[in-house]
Amino acid sequence: MPTDFDRPGRTALDLSDKVVVVVGGGQQPGPGMGNGRAICIMAARHGAQVVAADRNIAAADETVAMIAAEGGRGYAIEADVTEVEDCRRIFDETVARSGRVDGMVYSVATNPPFDRETNTMTVKDFDYGINVNMLGCYHCNLFAAQCMERNGGDTTGSIVNLSSIASLKNEVGLNIGIMPYALGKCGLNYITELTAVQFAEAGVRANTLMLGPIDSVIGNHDSQELFGFEPVEVEQAYADVVRLKMGRGTVWESAYAAVYLLADESRFMTGQQIRLDGGAALVR
Ligand SMILES: NC(=O)c1ccc[n+]([C@@H]2O[C@H](COP(=O)([O-])OP(=O)(O)OC[C@H]3O[C@@H](n4cnc5c(N)ncnc54)[C@H](O)[C@@H]3O)[C@@H](O)[C@H]2O)c1
Repeated sequence: MPTDFDRPGRTALDLSDKVVVVVGGGQQPGPGMGNGRAICIMAARHGAQVVAADRNIAAADETVAMIAAEGGRGYAIEADVTEVEDCRRIFDETVARSGRVDGMVYSVATNPPFDRETNTMTVKDFDYGINVNMLGCYHCNLFAAQCMERNGGDTTGSIVNLSSIASLKNEVGLNIGIMPYALGKCGLNYITELTAVQFAEAGVRANTLMLGPIDSVIGNHDSQELFGFEPVEVEQAYADVVRLKMGRGTVWESAYAAVYLLADESRFMTGQQIRLDGGAALVR
């Protein structure tokens, strides 16, 4: 990709020579759209060949069908990020089918079930949450970067790890329900920095896209569970959290930010935490 940034008429954020893997490229069942799916669609609109990897293959297939309906390119891979061999296979299969990996977005997350009355969670559920939110991220960063460093050129690849302001800002007190998520995201933030440093010489970049309240399936469903709100109370709860009164973001704002981080235009940015939260984390 030529980086002739000052050429008049240049197409901005062109991903047309890139293969982008979105881990968590399906979405959990429910109304609305997930961030991973929106990133898949937006990356395809910018020309990328998109690989939607997800434990829920039906959801990933649906993402690919949405991309194909718009004339875009992509395919799905079934994988559970708690299995290290599944993480490895995502990238082996992508290289076998597409020849390379240029971008990787880690968009998987989970909030394991807990007992709100007693504020307890089983160790098994806690471990599962950490495995999904953090360990899977580590494995995908490692295997993606190992593919990217083989690309050649000065910028060989870009990794975008989706985090949350829950890793910065306590919104629900000493609530076991948030812990695998918040602690997992703290780990994810750090994994980004480790990847950025370890693979900088190989030309691989890694950045954290840290989301605040986004109107998505996980944003609505899981926060109802954690805060104990009725669906109608969710908007007010978020308005209280986003005290700068910016309201809630949409998955399309996440998607545009991810496309920027995947594109060559961000080639001088690595190891950063980019907050997309309407300023929510500024006011505690
Ligand atoms: N929506 C918000 O308000 C918000 C806020 C902060 C951060 N985020 C982050 O955005 C990211 C994406 O959120 P979303 O809205 O798309 O959520 P989503 O739940 O719709 O999508 C997550 C996807 O991950 C998949 N998944 C779950 N467990 C898996 C596993 N073990 N292996 C493989 N795939 C698995 C699910 O099938 C689903 O398709 C998450 O990292 C989330 O933490 C969202």
